[in-house]
Amino acid sequence: MSESSQKKHLGVGLDVGTSRIVLARRADEGFEFRSELDAFVEVPFSRMTKNVLEREQVPHIVTGNQIMVFGNEADTFANLFHSETRRPMKQGILNPEEPDGLQLIRHIIQALAGPSRSKNEKLCFSVPAPKLGGGETASFHQATLRQILSELGYEAESVDEGLAVIYSELESSNFTGIGISCGGGMCNVCLAYLSVPVFSYSISKAGDFIDEQAAQASGEIATRVRAVKEESFEFGNNQSSKILQAIGVYYDEMIRGLVESLDEAFARSKKVPRIRKPVPLILSGGTALPRGFLERFQKVFESRKLPIEVSEIRLAESPLNATARGALVATLSTM
Ligand SMILES: Nc1ncnc2c1ncn2[C@@H]1O[C@H](COP(=O)(O)OP(=O)(O)O)[C@@H](O)[C@H]1O
Ligand SMILES: [Mg+2]
Repeated sequence: MSESSQKKHLGVGLDVGTSRIVLARRADEGFEFRSELDAFVEVPFSRMTKNVLEREQVPHIVTGNQIMVFGNEADTFANLFHSETRRPMKQGILNPEEPDGLQLIRHIIQALAGPSRSKNEKLCFSVPAPKLGGGETASFHQATLRQILSELGYEAESVDEGLAVIYSELESSNFTGIGISCGGGMCNVCLAYLSVPVFSYSISKAGDFIDEQAAQASGEIATRVRAVKEESFEFGNNQSSKILQAIGVYYDEMIRGLVESLDEAFARSKKVPRIRKPVPLILSGGTALPRGFLERFQKVFESRKLPIEVSEIRLAESPLNATARGALVATLSTM
């Protein structure tokens, strides 16, 4: 790539999620995305395994007599051993109960982003909003990520996850509206008026909640429930198995919780501007993917009376990439 065309492509957006880490960069046309699972699993060391992983370019590190396989292949290995993957993050921030989490998230980010392509290449990374009703902020998490990224040569800034969804999807309404990211560890919600955040919060009922509860109800392990959910769950069509039925029950609970949280957020917020025009609401994230999710959300939402009017509820163009895309839009706005 020539120097000028490389320069044209500078700037990175990074979605640091509990389930997946997604990287966005500019391409010749539009943006390009890459992602890795934010998870790892230990397998016993053997020279043979190590050689094969290298040949197959599966991201891993060797620690003593173990090999840690991380990123997208972690799930396959976990299923092989019928065990759970280990996770560097929990509920949107670094997992304090995972001793190897910091080391592993550093490796995952490094595998995805690599070193910066210019001195102080700009990068925005997503961070979760505080829990609705207060609670700790993500300041340790945020400072740690900035440190990891600056060691890779990036000039890193954080961007609120819900706001990133608005940056990604709502240019047409001048960044006015509600952006929601339904992820694994949490849902993040932001209301912005002309790009200025009015309120932004997170709630912890999301994909992992569905997996854990449905696992308990059906006597399965959560990793297996997640695989079934991602492969075959659809709304309104789940009588066929106990797992699918349980997933449906907890999906409904999650959606109800999300819609009710909007009521509470407006009630708590003292500074909701009088927005005369109805505003759009965007749903994104992996948990918004199953067929029928949008319609179910719309149905539960229908009965609500919020202080502002919602013009339409739609899915992000690419629900899994919206946060990373918005983080890149944030990066580019500073260049
Ligand atoms: N096709 C799918 N159907 C249902 N859920 C899915 C699907 N794909 C991913 N998910 C769920 O989405 C969540 C991860 O979403 P993502 O936006 O990547 O989250 P995070 O921001 O937490 O990393 C997980 O709970 C995962 O099980
Ligand atoms: Mg996310």
